[in-house]
Amino acid sequence: MKKISIVGSGTMGTGIAQIAATYGHEVCLYDSSNEAIKNSKHKIEKILNRLVEKERISQQEKENINSRINFTTDLEDIQESVLVIEAIIEDLNIKQDLFSKIERIIDKDCIIASNTSSLSIASIAAACKKSGRVIGIHFFNPAPLMPLVEIIPAVQTTTETLNTARSIIDSWNKITVIAKDTPGFIVNRVARPFYGEALRIYEEGIADFATIDWAMREIGGFRMGPFELMDYIGNDVNYMVTETVFTTFYFDSRYKPSFTQKRMMEAGYLGRKSGKGYYDYTTEERPLANEDRDLGKIILWRILCMLINEAADAFFLKIATKEDIDLAMTKGVNYPKGLLVWADEIGIKNVLTQLEELQAEYGEERYRPSPILRRMIKENKTFY
Ligand SMILES: NC(=O)c1ccc[n+]([C@@H]2O[C@H](COP(=O)([O-])OP(=O)(O)OC[C@H]3O[C@@H](n4cnc5c(N)ncnc54)[C@H](O)[C@@H]3O)[C@@H](O)[C@H]2O)c1
Repeated sequence: MKKISIVGSGTMGTGIAQIAATYGHEVCLYDSSNEAIKNSKHKIEKILNRLVEKERISQQEKENINSRINFTTDLEDIQESVLVIEAIIEDLNIKQDLFSKIERIIDKDCIIASNTSSLSIASIAAACKKSGRVIGIHFFNPAPLMPLVEIIPAVQTTTETLNTARSIIDSWNKITVIAKDTPGFIVNRVARPFYGEALRIYEEGIADFATIDWAMREIGGFRMGPFELMDYIGNDVNYMVTETVFTTFYFDSRYKPSFTQKRMMEAGYLGRKSGKGYYDYTTEERPLANEDRDLGKIILWRILCMLINEAADAFFLKIATKEDIDLAMTKGVNYPKGLLVWADEIGIKNVLTQLEELQAEYGEERYRPSPILRRMIKENKTFY
C-alpha cells in the first residue's frame, strides 16, 4: 500500500495516522516533539487495545496496524509518500514554513494537505513552489469515529490533486464533501447559529440553558442541546471558532460572538473538561427544564430558521452543493435532518416569515434572510 505521512502527532494527527494504518497504508507519523510522539504511541496502543477487547479487531490486526506506523522526529522520513497530511498547531506562519520544508523533501507527485480548521488553504499553498499540489483535508474530532471529511481545494489546487486526495480519503470509508476555501468551510460556518442563537435566546431571558437544551433535543430531535454541546466541545474552543469565523468574515454581525460565552471562557468555566461550564459536572444533578411545549417550539423554530438561513446562504454563494451541505451537517455534527431537506418540509415561506419578523423586531442585520429564500418563493421552487 502507498505510504501516507502525517505531520503533527497531537489529537488530530494521531487519529488520522490510526485510520491510514487501519486501511493498510504504511504510515510515517512525525512530530518535532519527543513528548508528543510518546503520547501518540501510548494513545494509539490504548485505543487499539480497547478495539481488541470489544472484539472489533483481532490481536493480529492490532499488531499489523501498529507495525505499519513509523513514529519519527526526523522530517526526512516522510520521503516517498503519496500524501502528507499536516496537523500541527493552528498558526499560518508556522504552517507555511513547514509546507516549504515538506516540499523540499517529498517526491514530485506527492500531495500536501492541511487539516486546518480556520486558515485559508490558498495562504498555506502560497508557501509552496508547486502550489497546485496543496489541498485542505479537514477531519473532525475524533477522526477515527467521525465519518465526515471536508475536502477544500484552494484556488491554486489542480483537479488531479483534488481527485487523488478525495479518492484516498473515500477509500478510508469516510464521507467526503467538497467545500470552497472560505472561513469555516461548511460545518463550522453553517453550525454557528446553533450556538449563537441559543446564547441570544438565553441572554434575552426567554429561557434558561436546560430549557433550550430540552427543546432542541426533545422537540427538535438534536442529539445534544447547544449548551450541553458547547460544554462538551469546550467553551474556549467553541468561542475561538466563533470569533475566528466572525473576524474572517469581516465582522459580519451574523457570526457575532456572545459575551455570555466569552465570560465563561474567561472564568475558566470551559465545560466538561474543567468540571464546570453551563452545567456543573461535579454532581449528577441537573437543573430542571421548563417543559412547556409552546415555549419549546418557539425556541426550536427560531434556532432552526437561523440554521436554515445559514445553509441556504452557503448554497446561494456556492460554498458547496445542497447535497454536500446536508451531508456535512448530518454526518459532521449529527443533525437529525439535512437543513435544506428540513426547509422544504417546513416550507421556505415559513422560514422567510420568521426571519423577516426577527429582523423587523430587532432591526439587526444578523437576521437578514439569504436572497435565495425570496428568489425561491418567487419562482415557486424547493431545494429538492
Ligand atoms: N482538535 C480538533 O478538534 C480539530 C478538529 C479539526 C481540525 N483541527 C486542526 O488540526 C490541527 C491540529 O490540531 P490538534 O488539535 O491535533 O492540535 P494538538 O495541539 O493536539 O497537536 C499539534 C501537534 O503539532 C506539533 N507541532 C507543533 N508545531 C510543529 C512543527 N512546527 N512541526 C512539527 N510538529 C509540530 C505539536 O508538538 C503537537 O503534537 C490544527 O490545524 C487544528 O486547527 C483540530
